[in-house]
Amino acid sequence: MSNDNAFIFDTHAHYDDVVFQSSLDTLIPEMEKAGVKKIITCGCNLKSSMNAIKLAEKYDIIYAAVGIHPGNIDDGEELLEIEKLLNHEKCVAVGEIGLDYYWRQDNKNKQIEIFKKQLELANKYNLPVLVHDRDAHADTLEILKKFKPKGVVHAFSGSVEMARELLKIGLYLGVGGVLTFKNARNLPAVVLDTPLERLLLETDAPYLSPVPFRGKENRSDLIHLVAEKMAEIKGISKNEVLKTTFQNAENLFKK
Ligand code: NI
Repeated sequence: MSNDNAFIFDTHAHYDDVVFQSSLDTLIPEMEKAGVKKIITCGCNLKSSMNAIKLAEKYDIIYAAVGIHPGNIDDGEELLEIEKLLNHEKCVAVGEIGLDYYWRQDNKNKQIEIFKKQLELANKYNLPVLVHDRDAHADTLEILKKFKPKGVVHAFSGSVEMARELLKIGLYLGVGGVLTFKNARNLPAVVLDTPLERLLLETDAPYLSPVPFRGKENRSDLIHLVAEKMAEIKGISKNEVLKTTFQNAENLFKK
């Protein structure tokens, strides 16, 4: 790699996923060699949040986010236990939390209730949030405007107009492998319109691998490909993309 002093901060991954279970001890040093300096691995329910903490305790470069994903809101009663994890020294965010109307529309009210409760928690502990918004742009924006948390909308898929609204609240936009897809839709326009100082890089590993690895298992060092695409869109160097987004993440997730 030619990035002498530019490092990768993967702000959203799922290294507790079963596909990584046996490979992580070799994968982590490989990724470090390729420039990966920090990774946030996210919880999706109580069990995976506890796993995220365990990984953060085991590996220096891993930090944890804990929370209940909108796909798991039947676990809403686990929030009291989730709250206990927030004081852990390597827990740097509440996430991933949010709304997903792609998978389920029949429990919108419950999704909204659990999302709001976790936004309250984040504000109470002064922690940033990692927000999941799939096919729920209007409700997500309305709720974020009300709670004004610190944080990032991960795998941002909304319009330029929505992006601008989120920036006004102070939020960051998380960008990953989708940027390299042929059907990236709004995302290149959003990246072009958004100041680099408000963008974060992420994988969502093991999902959303960038081209030419689309469909295969994602990993944090593949962020180089996303940074390259972002640099091309913005007409700047990849080094500048990596450096600035790294600093953005450091600013947001400092504890
Ligand atoms: Ni995720």
